[in-house]
Amino acid sequence: MTTTTAKAPAPDTARLFTPTTVAGLRLRSPFVMAPMTRLRSPGGVPTAGVAAYYRRRAAGGVGLVVTEGVYVGHSSAGHESAVPRLVPESAAGWRAVVEAVHAEHGLIFPQLWHLGSEREPVDGRAAWTPSGVREDGRPRGRAMTLTDIDDIVSAFAASARLAHGLGFDGVELHAAHGYLLDEFLWPATNRRTDRYGGPARDRSRFVAEIVAAVRAATAPDFPVAVRFSQFKERDYAARIADTPAELESVLAPIVTAGATLLHASSRRFWEPAFAGSPLNLAGWAKRLTGLPTITVGSVGLRRATLGPAADHPGSLAALAGRYRSGEFDLVAVGRALLANPSWVHDVAHGRHEQVVDYRKEQEDVFF
Ligand SMILES: Cc1cc2nc3c(=O)[nH]c(=O)nc-3n(C[C@H](O)[C@H](O)[C@H](O)COP(=O)(O)O)c2cc1C
Repeated sequence: MTTTTAKAPAPDTARLFTPTTVAGLRLRSPFVMAPMTRLRSPGGVPTAGVAAYYRRRAAGGVGLVVTEGVYVGHSSAGHESAVPRLVPESAAGWRAVVEAVHAEHGLIFPQLWHLGSEREPVDGRAAWTPSGVREDGRPRGRAMTLTDIDDIVSAFAASARLAHGLGFDGVELHAAHGYLLDEFLWPATNRRTDRYGGPARDRSRFVAEIVAAVRAATAPDFPVAVRFSQFKERDYAARIADTPAELESVLAPIVTAGATLLHASSRRFWEPAFAGSPLNLAGWAKRLTGLPTITVGSVGLRRATLGPAADHPGSLAALAGRYRSGEFDLVAVGRALLANPSWVHDVAHGRHEQVVDYRKEQEDVFF
């Protein structure tokens, strides 16, 4: 049996383990569980095992759980039957998940998702995409009509209304990684010539309309987070904005529409978003919009980066320094939480010897 001694966090990282208030939410720590697809919800309904999985991470000290991507209630949203949906048929399953996380004093947002061109036509239905093409110009699915756009805006609003009624503490819109919302933001996949395409502010119109509809369907003070990224899962070098000014044009309509929190997805939190400044993507998003932001990317994957002497730009000490400087407001952790459900508590109390280094096969961990 391993014996461990609880220690106070090192002074330079202590702030990371202190309660905080962001976007009107009182969080027991600034750590957020990053959304991670789990494929454990047969028929789109989260099971008791899913509730226990999220409960364990809340008990382990994360302030906010952002669930795995959840399909909105439209047949074009996704094809995987084990990905959960936020529809009336799955409401009871979700209620149990929300109660489980709240019982551990955690907060929880569902991440609302539409696969866009990643949807497989398993049932003979073509994928819905901005322009009927992939980024290389190859045909893919069909270009959405204006009616299709209205239908998807309504589907997001309906799922958000359900989330609000079920007691979720907010919602996150998945506008990152090359899925539908991001395919509108990304010039390579958005080749529309109507008001939803063209310059950055017009490419943002679809996401902004979803934000406004979600706000109207919930409450004026209901937190609405938008997750965005430069990189795509199928192209790590892709970008939606080449300069800070272009990023400002992308984000401004989304903020004006009523977003309250921006989740800037990057693969390594310490990488500068633009040349000439060390600010990461969350830092730039905060500076350009004034909204609070969540950073993410390779936090705590290696135990060796946790100690005070760790000499790595991705160390916990470096993360804490950026947090103290106000570069971002919250820190999402993904893979480190798969094999270490109590990662936050373990790191807070200096129990580093209990923390397992991340390995790829842990993606299948589900407990
Ligand atoms: C197994 C797995 C599933 C993921 N699923 C999603 C998802 O559904 N939605 C999303 O926005 N990001 C998803 N991601 C990305 C994570 O949210 C996170 O941004 C990424 O893993 C980087 O953070 P990390 O280095 O702390 O793991 C997933 C990542 C992993 C490893």
